[in-house]
Amino acid sequence: MSKRPDVHYSDYLQLDKILDAQHPESDKEGVEAHDEMLFIVTHQAYELWFKQVLYELNSVIDLLRTPEVNDNAPTMQMVVHRTERIITILRLLVDQINVMETMTSLDFLDFRDLLRPASGFQSVQWKELEARLGLRFEDRHGKGYYTSHLKEEDLKHVKHIEAKPSLLDLLNGWLERMPYLNSEAGWKTDSDNPVDHPFWKQYRSVYGSSLLDIEKTNLELFDNLLYGKSENPKRRLTAKACRSAMFIILYRGYPLLQMPYRFINGLLEIDELMATWRTRHMNMVRRMIGTRVGTGNSSGSSYLKSALDKHFIFCELAELNGLLLERRKLPELPDSVTGLLGFGGLNGTMIK
Ligand code: HEM
Repeated sequence: MSKRPDVHYSDYLQLDKILDAQHPESDKEGVEAHDEMLFIVTHQAYELWFKQVLYELNSVIDLLRTPEVNDNAPTMQMVVHRTERIITILRLLVDQINVMETMTSLDFLDFRDLLRPASGFQSVQWKELEARLGLRFEDRHGKGYYTSHLKEEDLKHVKHIEAKPSLLDLLNGWLERMPYLNSEAGWKTDSDNPVDHPFWKQYRSVYGSSLLDIEKTNLELFDNLLYGKSENPKRRLTAKACRSAMFIILYRGYPLLQMPYRFINGLLEIDELMATWRTRHMNMVRRMIGTRVGTGNSSGSSYLKSALDKHFIFCELAELNGLLLERRKLPELPDSVTGLLGFGGLNGTMIK
């Protein structure tokens, strides 16, 4: 067997390319702007981390795309582990704003006009990340701005991603397949209608009586989210999926629900961290350029504020937390269900 050539650190990491990729516009123009190097390196570091986040996210999507996800096998562990890695990276990305903020407005002004019309808005990886998580074109803020400020090939790429099943779509399918309350293996009932299911009947009644008078509309929310009473085409999670998510959140202490719970909680964490990044970025923009328009010609911080408010992805999961009951008031589960939720659990049978 021929000996493999020695691998050298800088060749392996292709440092010749990476370290030769910082060319400040101010240098080209012969203008003094010390902080442009920081600006470039910070953006490049972000783009590298975006690449890793997408790598992990795509693998999670592939794992969930299989028609059967066995909760009693390593698949779910991998999904959760990689989701939690994404979370750790996102925390770092929020912190990285601190480095950018060591640049003052005056420092930025030294080179800012040389960048026009380039903008972080044109980050295709950021757009791809949003789309892979589940942000649809029709739900984006400023659609006209969005389509007019991306390169044609970038727009085509993001559109292609938007047309594929997102993590949110796959989450819905995975939740819908949960067997505990609606299958032969779990809590058998005569009717398929959740309104008649003894679990939800009891839950709704206890929940209703726990509400204050001013909160009574929450019962309407309960019926809409968990029974699908009023059709809202904008909703991304079906009532069936919401019932499973609720069940996981409520009974997360059972061994077989621990991984699913960590996954659901992880998705909420991703939403929160993306919003935290958006908030920090927006505040930095306010501090840096005040009310001036961005280099990409958007309204600047006010554009970013609207995107922050509109671009939550897993907010329907968060909504369910308003329907929770204290643990001591939860319906008691029959043995047929608790038996499924223990380590012997599904005995290796698949969640179809
Ligand atoms: C001095 C620092 C920065 C300023 C003043 C700034 C400013 C802005 C502004 C005004 C926008 C809105 C679009 C426009 O009109 O240009 C924007 C969007 C954006 N910027 Fe920055 N930015 C800064 C640093 C960064 C960094 C370090 C990143 C890291 C990748 C970044 C990523 C983004 C992204 C992803 C968007 C699109 C956000 C969305 O559509 O929700 N920015 N930025």
